[in-house]
Amino acid sequence: MPAGFPSLSVPFSWLTAPRPLVCLAPMAGVTDASYRRFIKKLAPETILYSEFLCTDALAYGGKKTMEMMHFDPALERPFIVQVFGKRPEHFVEAAKVIEQMGADGIDINMGCPAAKVVSSAHGSALMKNPDLAAELVARTVQAVSIPVSVKTRLGWDTAETLVPFCRRLVEAGAAALAVHGRRYCDKFTGAADWEPIYELKKQVSVPVIGNGDIKSGADAVAKIGNLDGVMVGRATFGNPWVMKEVCDALCSLTPNPSPIGGGGRPRTFAETIPFILEHCALAAEVKGEKRGMMEMRRHLASYVKGFQGAAELRAKLVRVESIAEVEDILRTVAGSV
Ligand SMILES: Cc1cc2nc3c(=O)[nH]c(=O)nc-3n(C[C@H](O)[C@H](O)[C@H](O)COP(=O)(O)O)c2cc1C
Repeated sequence: MPAGFPSLSVPFSWLTAPRPLVCLAPMAGVTDASYRRFIKKLAPETILYSEFLCTDALAYGGKKTMEMMHFDPALERPFIVQVFGKRPEHFVEAAKVIEQMGADGIDINMGCPAAKVVSSAHGSALMKNPDLAAELVARTVQAVSIPVSVKTRLGWDTAETLVPFCRRLVEAGAAALAVHGRRYCDKFTGAADWEPIYELKKQVSVPVIGNGDIKSGADAVAKIGNLDGVMVGRATFGNPWVMKEVCDALCSLTPNPSPIGGGGRPRTFAETIPFILEHCALAAEVKGEKRGMMEMRRHLASYVKGFQGAAELRAKLVRVESIAEVEDILRTVAGSV
């Protein structure tokens, strides 16, 4: 078990997990096994979430979704599988599959604002249907012994519903709540508002994790307030070291403990290359080299952001098909900067 967590023989619990909780946000198309393993290497304290997975597909044993759920217990724990859907009977089946495969918890998505998800009455749409939301939690909790949590937003078009909505979820058995400080109608615009999340924490008995716009250790310290933890998403793009920076800052270690940068972030492009290649190697290990590199392209573009000649570099990196190609491109540039 990674540093800071009880041994594998002790089941994960949101109540006893070391504080503050630091979570990698679930991100579709991003937080696959290779990303989770890479983040975990840099910041062993991190609680990992999967990309969101469809309960209908899990209930029917859909091959692609089952593959997406695969994880390595030695390298990726605590591991919370996030699911979305709306059919209680499929939540029950999906939950059993997730528990059997050894995950530490199940998280129900009640915050995704994507049109396709909302129009199917999944994700954020559940905030408009608290009866169904509570039923999904209750049925999932009854089906398994691992904890069931919920990730949601402040509300549909007002934050005033946050406390009553979350109270229903807690009454139904939700063991923890992660809240993105935006409403559905905000999508990703404006600044995240953490005030309603602090108020929620005063009103519920379960751990509450705040999410939205954390970009550094200093941000995490400024935002955590009375909460049990924080969740970080987009700031990890091109800067996975931010997770360690956040962990260290929240544990009141020196804000910048590494001689080379916050969370161990390399200062130069040349120093960054071995990390990028390690991330590529993990992607290749998990998905095979060709597919792994195709999926790495977005990360490669993020890694070079801000460096001299980034636009030109990006244009080359978004076409790579092998690790050798990535290395060639990066080393050529490193030699010239
Ligand atoms: C590419 C991408 C994919 C996402 N996928 C999911 C998802 O599968 N489930 C979920 O609950 N939230 C998802 N989110 C939302 C994030 O988990 C998080 O709530 C949001 O990005 C705000 O946090 P941040 O400001 O730290 O990025 C996604 C966000 C992004 C940018």
